[in-house]
Amino acid sequence: MLKVEEEHYEASGGVVEARDLWKVYRLGLTKLVALRGVNLSVRAGEVVAIVGPSGSGKTTLLTILGTLSKPTRGVVLIGGVDVTKLSDEELAKLRNRKIGFVFQTFNLIGRLTALENVELPLIAAGVPPRARRHMALEALKLVGLEKWVNHRPMELSGGQQQRVAIARAIVTRPQIVLADEPTGNLDSKTALSIMELFKKLNEELGVTIIMVTHNLELTRYCHRVVHLRDGMIVKEELLREGLE
Ligand SMILES: Nc1ncnc2c1ncn2[C@@H]1O[C@H](COP(=O)(O)OP(=O)(O)OP(=O)(O)O)[C@@H](O)[C@H]1O
Ligand SMILES: [Mg+2]
Repeated sequence: MLKVEEEHYEASGGVVEARDLWKVYRLGLTKLVALRGVNLSVRAGEVVAIVGPSGSGKTTLLTILGTLSKPTRGVVLIGGVDVTKLSDEELAKLRNRKIGFVFQTFNLIGRLTALENVELPLIAAGVPPRARRHMALEALKLVGLEKWVNHRPMELSGGQQQRVAIARAIVTRPQIVLADEPTGNLDSKTALSIMELFKKLNEELGVTIIMVTHNLELTRYCHRVVHLRDGMIVKEELLREGLE
């Protein structure tokens, strides 16, 4: 099964593909068209920034790419698989195996330690306790938090909390990390250190990263910048080559 998926995605060229995505929100009697025919193909190992004004559809696009919400029309392929055809259970499994999420507000569980937070996706994946602990420690080491594993989120700085969230996102070794304004709550120096960390994850683990940001300065860490406006891609910039 896995083999077929891999071959499929090589053939289609993108690890994440969106074809003619539309999203219409219904608010009582009115309709709001948040996405208007978005086409996007993200290659394995690519780092893509999605930028655009507030309300342009960035979060809507990211949540649809991450299968957290469904498009009104259009298709999303993850590793060559049309996710719009999968059941909720299959989607949950696919997300757990293939996609890591990072949010602006970290979304850590306050009463759990850093280590326990990072172990959560492994519990969902059915990894046994010893292996879980080992993998979570490795992920925390990778983000530079080996000395903070037993601290709770409240005892950590914003940057450290985001590192825990990133460790949690990568602990299952997903191919894809989706991040919505991951540095939005951080000061500019900490924001840069988080971008350095994403760069390292991309270069060392080959993780494909799709990131929403308001901060144009951070797009220099990306291979490509996709500009959204009123739910449409209005411009794409290729910044860094280096992908085969
Ligand atoms: N759940 C929802 N129900 C109704 N309308 C929504 C919903 N989510 C988003 N919208 C609307 O869709 C449009 C796009 O919203 P979205 O959150 O994707 O924008 P964004 O580019 O992420 O903005 P920001 O930079 O402020 O985060 C907006 O007009 C928003 O009001
Ligand atoms: Mg948003």
